[in-house]
Amino acid sequence: MKKLLPLVVVVVLIGAGIAALYNVGRNKGYSPDQPIPFSHERHVTQNGIPCMYCHTGVEKTKHATVPAMNVCMNCHSVVLPDSPHIKRLKEAYASGKPIEWVKIHDLPDHVNFNHKRHVAKGIACETCHGDVGQMVKVKQVVDMNMGWCLDCHRGKTTPPEVVSAITKEKAADPVKASMLGTAVAPTNCYTCHH
Ligand code: HEC
Ligand code: HEC
Ligand code: HEC
Ligand code: HEC
Ligand code: HEC
Repeated sequence: MKKLLPLVVVVVLIGAGIAALYNVGRNKGYSPDQPIPFSHERHVTQNGIPCMYCHTGVEKTKHATVPAMNVCMNCHSVVLPDSPHIKRLKEAYASGKPIEWVKIHDLPDHVNFNHKRHVAKGIACETCHGDVGQMVKVKQVVDMNMGWCLDCHRGKTTPPEVVSAITKEKAADPVKASMLGTAVAPTNCYTCHH
């Protein structure tokens, strides 16, 4: 019994730890001022510019990436040249000193997240980021904690069309079906942690 006790304590501690981690907050509501007041509402909703025009990495790589200044200059070399904000943009571009956008959504380094995998499955930007196209200033609208990831991987909060696509894949692939069980995406620790 005495030999077992430390082990039991460790197991209980890990259990309590994981339960607590499930709900650790991750910046929900965070909406910092940016060095240049860039409005998604004005670009996306008023001027119809698609997300991928600027966030070019999102379908192809792990990172969505924030656009480099030459992307802004595609338009702003001619659009609103007299705006003080655009003048600052041009000065920064000319001096080669990039604008330091404040990162809003920011997971710890030990977490492995991949945009491409999620976007390829048809999960909309809005599911995870809210209606950014309507935002004058970007705001993080969900708590990006472990529970948030897992609730979707377990199928609890997954968009219905994603659930049905993966249900079909499981029906056609017994190996996938046995690996996932009732889940729609892997829930093993090493899926998300390096
Ligand atoms: C004209 C270029 C442009 C377009 C179009 C655009 N974005 Fe952005 N996006 C930016 C820039 C610049 C930033 C960094 C400044 C900021 O946060 O406002 C940004 C920031 C973001 C962020 C926050 C990044 C962080 O630090 O966490 C998200 C999320 C985002 N965009 C999603 C979208 C979505 C979704 C769409 C389409 C509905 C979209 N963007 C369209 C340029 C663009
Ligand atoms: C595809 C074209 C396009 C791209 C790319 C683009 N913009 Fe714009 N931007 C516009 C248009 C159009 C407007 C609104 C013009 C209007 O309302 O008269 C605008 C307005 C703005 C304004 C408002 C200026 C003011 O004083 O009202 C800012 C700031 C701005 N853009 C910054 C940026 C930044 C930073 C980038 C790069 C991340 C960027 N834009 C990329 C087309 C673009
Ligand atoms: C399944 C959820 C999910 C979906 C869908 C999603 N994102 Fe993200 N996004 C995240 C997470 C989580 C982060 C934080 C990543 C980090 O810090 O490593 C993030 C970060 C970002 C960033 C900051 C830069 C970066 O790559 O970390 C931008 C910009 C962004 N997302 C844009 C988009 C756009 C545009 C779409 C749709 C085409 C999209 N996201 C779809 C969850 C999602
Ligand atoms: C709205 C639902 C949703 C959210 C939220 C979500 N995921 Fe996923 N994730 C999925 C789906 C569906 C897949 C399966 C994609 C496939 O089958 O290719 C997936 C796949 C993955 C994969 C690839 C797994 C593999 O097969 O190797 C990783 C890694 C991952 N997600 C990490 C995360 C992390 C980390 C978060 C939270 C920051 C997160 N996901 C949030 C739905 C989601
Ligand atoms: C679907 C993705 C996903 C899976 C699966 C997952 N985690 Fe996490 N985990 C996260 C995310 C995202 C965070 C960051 C949460 C935060 O910082 O708010 C996190 C944070 C943690 C932390 C906190 C580290 C710190 O910074 O304090 C530990 C420890 C951890 N996870 C352990 C586990 C263990 C053990 C498992 C398996 C039982 C597991 N995780 C499975 C996504 C996942």
